[in-house]
Amino acid sequence: MPDYDARLVDLYDVDNPDGADHDYVRSLADEIGAQSILDVGCGTGILTATLVQAGRRVVGIDPSSTMLAYARGRAGGGEVTWVLGDSRNIPAGRFDLAVMSGNVAQHIPDPAWERTLSDIRTALRDDGVLTFESRNPLARAWTTWSNVEPTSRPTPHGLLREWLDVDEIQPGRVVLTAYNEFVQTGDLVIEHLTLEFREREQIEQQLVDAGFHVANVWGDWSRTASTNDSPLMIFEARRN
Ligand SMILES: C[S@@+](CC[C@H](N)C(=O)[O-])C[C@H]1O[C@@H](n2cnc3c(N)ncnc32)[C@H](O)[C@@H]1O
Repeated sequence: MPDYDARLVDLYDVDNPDGADHDYVRSLADEIGAQSILDVGCGTGILTATLVQAGRRVVGIDPSSTMLAYARGRAGGGEVTWVLGDSRNIPAGRFDLAVMSGNVAQHIPDPAWERTLSDIRTALRDDGVLTFESRNPLARAWTTWSNVEPTSRPTPHGLLREWLDVDEIQPGRVVLTAYNEFVQTGDLVIEHLTLEFREREQIEQQLVDAGFHVANVWGDWSRTASTNDSPLMIFEARRN
């Protein structure tokens, strides 16, 4: 997997701040009395580090060494076990809760996605909980994302000019090409990202096939039941 540019990782938390999605995970962890939490695709660890509590084991795993380097250096990062890799590298021990926040599910294509679900099931205790969100393909959010006119903003790495191409290459598979030009140095960083927009029924079936039962599918972070119009599908599944 090509890694992220470190200058763009420095901007990740500003662009994706703590919010209702993280509140939901923290509440769920407290409600089920989670003593051990696994954060798959933890990125910069912006959520992971806030899950730390006395007596609770927290593991963050991500295949990006640039993301993990940032996570290790963040406040509270020393209390988390960081693992470079994917679900094949989950450390031993049973977890009460596994999370994939920030639409990680959409970053993992099949069959790696099915393997990820199966590996997470193995890592959970009986009746352990897995939660993650995925954007509802019926809402077609990607149709509003294209931004071909460059915009500029100041960053710690100088002025950044950005523009974005969005292409639905197959039904439910969207390729983003993000152009990031650091004006002072003239560096142009081009990122290609493929996002999978899976339908609710497909994800539910994949969860069942991996050995989970689906407890809830929420349409927002306040736990309103998901409908066809909900922009998000937030899955809460339990290990069989
Ligand atoms: C949009 S970021 C989300 C980061 C973090 N969970 C958050 O909420 O801010 C997606 C993350 O998924 C990670 N990722 C990509 N493929 C993965 C895989 N196969 N297994 C686990 N994580 C993966 C990326 O490296 C990236 O850090």
